[in-house]
Amino acid sequence: MEVIICRNADEAASLSADLIEDVLRQKPNMTLGLATGRTMEDLYDKLAERHQKAGLDFSLAVTFNLDEYIGLPAEDPNSYRAYMNRHLFDRINIDKCNTFLPNGVAEDLDAECAAYEARILDYGGIDLQLLGIGRTGHIGFNEPLSALQSRTRCKTLTPGTIAQNSPLFDNPEDMPRRAITMGVGTILESQRSILLATGTEKADIIAKAVEGPMTAMISASAMQWHQKCTVILDEAASAKLEHTDYYHWIFQNEPEWEPYRAKYSA
Ligand code: GLP
Repeated sequence: MEVIICRNADEAASLSADLIEDVLRQKPNMTLGLATGRTMEDLYDKLAERHQKAGLDFSLAVTFNLDEYIGLPAEDPNSYRAYMNRHLFDRINIDKCNTFLPNGVAEDLDAECAAYEARILDYGGIDLQLLGIGRTGHIGFNEPLSALQSRTRCKTLTPGTIAQNSPLFDNPEDMPRRAITMGVGTILESQRSILLATGTEKADIIAKAVEGPMTAMISASAMQWHQKCTVILDEAASAKLEHTDYYHWIFQNEPEWEPYRAKYSA
């Protein structure tokens, strides 16, 4: 795991966009794992802008989203499919046939989950998985106690997650209590991952996920086990970390970050 602390949320989104762009330019048919949530909106704005102004080409890319609410059809404005169309897919040149989210209204939800896993494998696995973090420490909707080897499945959301996300619904009562989510094990199999978190309200959970013990109570802590996870933060979200000097040191000295140093040195 590596931690990069940017000066502000805008730079954190911009660095995340740079890393996605680098992989996409090297592998135009990359498989990109996508996340939803307010944090991702700035990043998707940047990717859309790079497509519109600099011709960043998504025409061969394939995407798999982490999760979808159970009971919301794609057309529901609160579905994650609608979120993805609005914030990204309708603004870039991706072929929507190559954009996958779990179907939250499938008749047989367990079969849907198994088919989602199989499809990820059919596409050769995920090259780069983007992650946010919920205040319960979830990645995707892997709520506390999610097995570290879990696969795509149905999960009941915690009251904390419902409190965090229900204000996004016109009628907060309409927020589903369950979702389909990729498992922690599914996420851990991605080749590379970026966990993007910004804002003071994420500082406590980021400190636990990054510097605390790996535990099923905080699914994001499982990213300590991932082969190549880059945690990208703004200063606010990094505020409760103990070892920030060390993270800055790595960013200043690791050759991989040389091309980004001048732009993002905090
Ligand atoms: C939802 C998603 C998560 C995301 C989280 C963070 O719960 N299922 O994948 O990480 O939102 O949301 P926000 O960025 O709004 O804090």
